[in-house]
Amino acid sequence: MGSYDTLDYWSLKAQKEGYPARSVYKLKEMDEKFGLFKGAGTKRGAPSGALKTEGAGSPSRTSGPFKVLDIGAAPGSWSLYALRRMGSAGSLVSVDLSPLSRLYDKGLFDGSNFFFIQGDITDPAVRAQLLERGPYHLVMSDVAPATTGNRSVDTLRSLALVEEVVAYAEAALIPGGNLVVKVFQGGDTAEVLKRLRTLFTTARSFKPEACRSESFETYYLGLGKKPV
Ligand SMILES: C[S@@+](CC[C@H](N)C(=O)[O-])C[C@H]1O[C@@H](n2cnc3c(N)ncnc32)[C@H](O)[C@@H]1O
Repeated sequence: MGSYDTLDYWSLKAQKEGYPARSVYKLKEMDEKFGLFKGAGTKRGAPSGALKTEGAGSPSRTSGPFKVLDIGAAPGSWSLYALRRMGSAGSLVSVDLSPLSRLYDKGLFDGSNFFFIQGDITDPAVRAQLLERGPYHLVMSDVAPATTGNRSVDTLRSLALVEEVVAYAEAALIPGGNLVVKVFQGGDTAEVLKRLRTLFTTARSFKPEACRSESFETYYLGLGKKPV
């Protein structure tokens, strides 16, 4: 299957299954492989299919809902996946510079277990608001800078955001919590993985099948945050 056909396949599947972007299948694959939402409950509308889990990340349930933070959430596929996956047993906070698409949410974004902030994750006021609603069992970031087409510039900008997200997750995750963060390969990403190894029981990179083959993006996972 060529890359054009692949794009078509994932985009059409997303439309058919009620998601505004094909990126949902990257999260779904990582969830099925690493158990990102393990412990979140599956009361309402959980995606079908058996969950195979491989990772160390299964945060111990504390009292209250399973809390997820979605950074770089627009148009909203990862957020919709999280809300459908967790049902009423979970709560989600999402942040993006842009608003979310309401095309497929069927009222899920109006629920009392969902909160959206339109803002910049690097803005201290936004970060403080997000922290107030934590701590989180899962921090997931698909954040990507507006690309320029210049790979070195794009990689540098992405790396700056990734470093922000990792530093943020360090403060916002519960012990045992999980992190997934999109990384543009190149630059000093090895340093990021090294940092994740000090913070989490397991740290690794993973490129989901739904990533475009020509794309230089991949994901880093930190599973099972070590207690401080
Ligand atoms: C690839 S999209 C995310 C797709 C999303 N995961 C989904 O499934 O619908 C990347 C997003 O990162 C957002 N973004 C980029 N820089 C940001 C920043 N500094 N703060 C918050 N969001 C940011 C962009 O606005 C964009 O919506």
